[in-house]
Amino acid sequence: MSKKSLDLTMKDPHPRPLSRSAGEGGRRPGEGPAWEPKIVAFFCTWCTYTAADLAGMSRMTYAPNARIVRFMCSGRVDPQFVLKAFQEGADGVLIGGCHPGDCHYQSGNYKALRRITLLKRLLKEMGIEPERLRLEWISASEGDRVQKVMNEMTAKIRQLGPLHVERPSPPAPLPSSRTGEECPQGGVRAKAEVQGGAR
Ligand code: FES
Repeated sequence: MSKKSLDLTMKDPHPRPLSRSAGEGGRRPGEGPAWEPKIVAFFCTWCTYTAADLAGMSRMTYAPNARIVRFMCSGRVDPQFVLKAFQEGADGVLIGGCHPGDCHYQSGNYKALRRITLLKRLLKEMGIEPERLRLEWISASEGDRVQKVMNEMTAKIRQLGPLHVERPSPPAPLPSSRTGEECPQGGVRAKAEVQGGAR
């Protein structure tokens, strides 16, 4: 599988690339045999989150590998949230929204569908299996579907193995002797300002 990298953090002053660095089925350094898939689930509050709530209240059991993040609409899930989740250690990302035509904001789920379709292509280009990202329509009454999808997603990620991403350390700060002198407050004053040369 080819290595690809991409700057994920458009607003980050120190962009960090994300890249695939190991084959399937491996383990992270220091991880024992008890590796468990980590899944981040972005659920729309009106449908899928309510369905997950219903599954819980109905005492349905499903794989406990997902951490659910509640959004007002699947259309609010920015692709950067997905990439950030992968960057921060998720092995899979699940997005749940209202069925087409049921979005409380009319077209949010259609936007989500378009974004996820493109995002899957991007992941593939980066050398990450697109199956690690899944979009599902689950209405508020479909607690059993939450159970099914969570179990399926966990099994799929287990089959794919952990996702290894390279996280280069942020660039080291420049030595103060090259940029200015230390301020008492702990910052660095620009040299020109120290010398009174700039206003
Ligand atoms: S409100 Fe549920 S997907 Fe838009």
